[in-house]
Amino acid sequence: MKVPYIKQHADVFLDPNAGLWKKSAVGRFNLMPTPIKMIEHLSPFMANSTEYGKVNQIESRIAHNGAKITILLSWQDATRNDAIRDLDQFIDGVAVMFPFTSNANPLTMGDAENPVNAWFWRADKEEPYDVIAHGYGSSKRRIGKELGLVVNSSYQDGRWTVVFQRALRAGLISHQQVNFAPDKVTGISFAVWDGGNADRAAQKSFSGGWEPLELEA
Ligand code: HEM
Repeated sequence: MKVPYIKQHADVFLDPNAGLWKKSAVGRFNLMPTPIKMIEHLSPFMANSTEYGKVNQIESRIAHNGAKITILLSWQDATRNDAIRDLDQFIDGVAVMFPFTSNANPLTMGDAENPVNAWFWRADKEEPYDVIAHGYGSSKRRIGKELGLVVNSSYQDGRWTVVFQRALRAGLISHQQVNFAPDKVTGISFAVWDGGNADRAAQKSFSGGWEPLELEA
């Protein structure tokens, strides 16, 4: 997917209705339920679930202004689940994941030698998380705000829209965050949780392999 350079103040990109988004092509990705049998060793209970991962498409528009990258995501969800009021309730969410190495496998959320970085939004939280994982079962949430990640979300007419934004270059290397640069290609993959369908953790829909992300200079 091409990520156009658009000369605009970063705040403007946070508005999903801003005219600049017309300059960025829409990517439409089919989503499928995660291959949950792969986590049987971690959770035999979760591995037996069958009704999860029904959200089957996500749209994305991505652009940068030389300093920040913005990822606009939207998908259909008939129920807005943004609060837990009982034990059997779950939360809508979305995440984008990036590899740290060329061998990182999105199907396993990376592994010990090939970690992945994800930006994770949940409908019950004002702030996003920046997640690092070395294979499923290992994900560590960090406060996105402390790592420069911001989010804007809205729900209208049965559709969620979520906008993530961060500096192209993360602050400190020790924070282990993905970095972007014009003319450098990285990969992205997508996951959606439908709280109304009890999606959580591995029970979600995802886009499969890495989609190449090419930042235009
Ligand atoms: C595009 C692909 C994927 C993305 C963006 C993604 C993202 C995430 C994120 C952000 C979390 C943390 C949730 C939390 O903190 O509550 C998570 C958890 C989890 N994911 Fe994934 N995931 C992907 C694919 C998969 C696949 C294919 C599987 C298994 C077949 C899987 C298994 C798990 C499991 C077991 C957890 C809970 C344990 C943990 O936190 O590591 N994921 N995922």
